[in-house]
Amino acid sequence: MTRKILLTAALPYANGAIHLGHLVEYIQTDIWTRFQKMRGHECWFVCADDTHGTPIMLRAEKEGITPEQLIERVHAEHSRDFAGFHVAFDNYYTTHSDETRHYSEDIFAKLKAAGLIEIRSIEQYYDPVKLMFLPDRFIKGECPKCGAKDQYGDACESCGAAYAPTDLKNPYSAVSGAPPVLKSSDHYFFKLSDPRCQDFLRQWTQQEERLQPEAANKLQEWLGAPGESKLTDWDISRDAPYFGFEIPGDNGKSTGKYFYVWLDAPIGYMGSFKNFCDKKGLDFDEFWGKDSTAELYHFIGKDILYFHALFWPAELAHAGYRTPTKVFAHGFLTVDGAKMSKSRGTFITAESYLTQGLNPEWLRYYFAAKLNGSMEDIDLNLEDFTQRVNSDLIGKYINIASRAAGFIAKRFDGKLQREHVSARFKAELPGLMEAADEIAGYYEVRDYARGMRCVMALADRINQYVDKNQPWVLAKQEGQEAKLHEVCSLLINAFRLLTIYLKPVLPKLAQRAEEFLNVAPLHWADAGHLLPIAHPISDYEHLMQRIDAKQIDSLIAANRESLEPTAAAPAPSPGIPLRITVAEPHSPQRHAQHQQHSEDIVQAQTSPVEPTISIDDFSKVDLRIARIADAQHVEGADKLIRLTLDLGEGETRNVFAGIKSAYDPAQLVGRLTVMVANLAPRKMKFGISEGMVLAASDSDGKSPGLFLLSPDSGAQPGMRVK
Ligand code: 2FM
Ligand code: ZN
Repeated sequence: MTRKILLTAALPYANGAIHLGHLVEYIQTDIWTRFQKMRGHECWFVCADDTHGTPIMLRAEKEGITPEQLIERVHAEHSRDFAGFHVAFDNYYTTHSDETRHYSEDIFAKLKAAGLIEIRSIEQYYDPVKLMFLPDRFIKGECPKCGAKDQYGDACESCGAAYAPTDLKNPYSAVSGAPPVLKSSDHYFFKLSDPRCQDFLRQWTQQEERLQPEAANKLQEWLGAPGESKLTDWDISRDAPYFGFEIPGDNGKSTGKYFYVWLDAPIGYMGSFKNFCDKKGLDFDEFWGKDSTAELYHFIGKDILYFHALFWPAELAHAGYRTPTKVFAHGFLTVDGAKMSKSRGTFITAESYLTQGLNPEWLRYYFAAKLNGSMEDIDLNLEDFTQRVNSDLIGKYINIASRAAGFIAKRFDGKLQREHVSARFKAELPGLMEAADEIAGYYEVRDYARGMRCVMALADRINQYVDKNQPWVLAKQEGQEAKLHEVCSLLINAFRLLTIYLKPVLPKLAQRAEEFLNVAPLHWADAGHLLPIAHPISDYEHLMQRIDAKQIDSLIAANRESLEPTAAAPAPSPGIPLRITVAEPHSPQRHAQHQQHSEDIVQAQTSPVEPTISIDDFSKVDLRIARIADAQHVEGADKLIRLTLDLGEGETRNVFAGIKSAYDPAQLVGRLTVMVANLAPRKMKFGISEGMVLAASDSDGKSPGLFLLSPDSGAQPGMRVK
């Protein structure tokens, strides 16, 4: 039976680059789409850029362009990156579209007619300088619970407390630095607490395995016991100025309010699909209508489960649309066991991976080998990545073709054996064709990891068959022509089967393998038969290179933020407290994981506090008092000064510091400062840097607000700073 399937992956914000954390989800969804298509199902994969919100508006303003120009540019960048990783959307659209506007207005009108929209006046912080209401993430101040400074308006990263922005002590606007004032404004709320929504969701979330077991448990917790009312109404509006769709008022009147992300972004799934239907002549209602029998799946990160499993289905159900068949949440990506980090060079963008010349299918395979359909985080261990790709893909899979192809070409005119292939194949490599069902089962439940293990176990068996029959020995023996032909023909057939099994993960490699095998694009059902007798194959060209560990080193180096400040910056905004940053300015990017899911995150303007670390983590950083024994200009470097640091007891260090904009070398000689003494030496264009000096700066870490730290008098070179 042909299934009708519609798949979505979360819409990435149009204000940042795609990185490897994002790619986990798009690759996961792309593999599933390709698998379903190979099975012969009608399957569509749509996505779009999430283009609305305050950060996009502010970023465009900062760049001196319109939001439309910004989102158009980012759309091109995102499309390029996805194509580079062979993520083949059937439609990659934008939420800034007539279609999305239409469904946002339609859903809103229906929810309103159902009595599920309410207007309430709320008091919110307002930036009196920038003349705008401030989303929670744009308000900072001291945590009301633990007093930690520079915490966001919704939660403390130091003690984990959640609170309202009005609870912050000494709040300030992250946009202008001014203390915000409280101002009232009318907002629209979706009444998620309405008994109709609660009853519906209690049922919906627990039926038909809509959610992974761990997600269903989480939902139960959020919903509370029957009778309990734990869901709160959801604010779906934002005040002008805002980049988005205005909420229509009665009789065409303007409201001056805009749809906020959750009544906008997921509706982009519908907008993108509608746009696709119009281009393709498909019937939108067959997929989204109330009585649709098509399957609808949303692939998402676990951080947006609440919205996709509560808010979204309640919204759809009460606006007369179908709800998702299932929601599939995945975990976050770590690199070498830790959060992706710009300073370590593990915040790897899709673009840099590709421009460094790494093969996107290496990553697709590695992610597939790790994804098991659960919400667990997955780790990209760079050493394991190199080892596993080289051993599995080149050592086991490609090797099968390369060992057999030459003999077929040279000794048998490029043609496979004339007889008995099928019977011999089944006798020598039993179970290889039959494995198709088992592997398909793993793909279906998104346990690609087991699927890959199963394929590699088959590859091991095929390689054992090679070692047992040693075609290179047969080739030298007289009277073994027929045997050699049989062994190589079986191997080519075995390689073809593995190609089918790996094709959802390695689409480009499979395409090249199909050219080599001289066959039409392979479908899953092709695993049910072998190549015809005397089938001619093409000349073999090497199908995939090994990963060279040096390529990984270059990738990390390319992503590690340079010691040189990257751009000239505006003067720090008055009122933004100075933070201590290292003199190699970096803008720590929170929510490096997956997508940044709060529309309230602004990039580069603020310098958010990093997640909490333990005292043990901190004590790994060896901070020492150092005397600047010498300071010199660095020829050819605009921003660096070469410092010779005296650490006492005759120990000196050479450090390149990006502080030239703020200091003349001559002023520095003789003064004391603080350095990170145990930072791994880093090779730079101008020499090796053996540590780092500390400086306070504005949040962008740029001139002229750069201030080298000094100890109180009495401190001596070499003293530890704790
Ligand atoms: O969390 C995010 O990344 C948002 N851009 C929303 C994505 S999902 C959606 F579109 F519903
Ligand atoms: Zn706190």
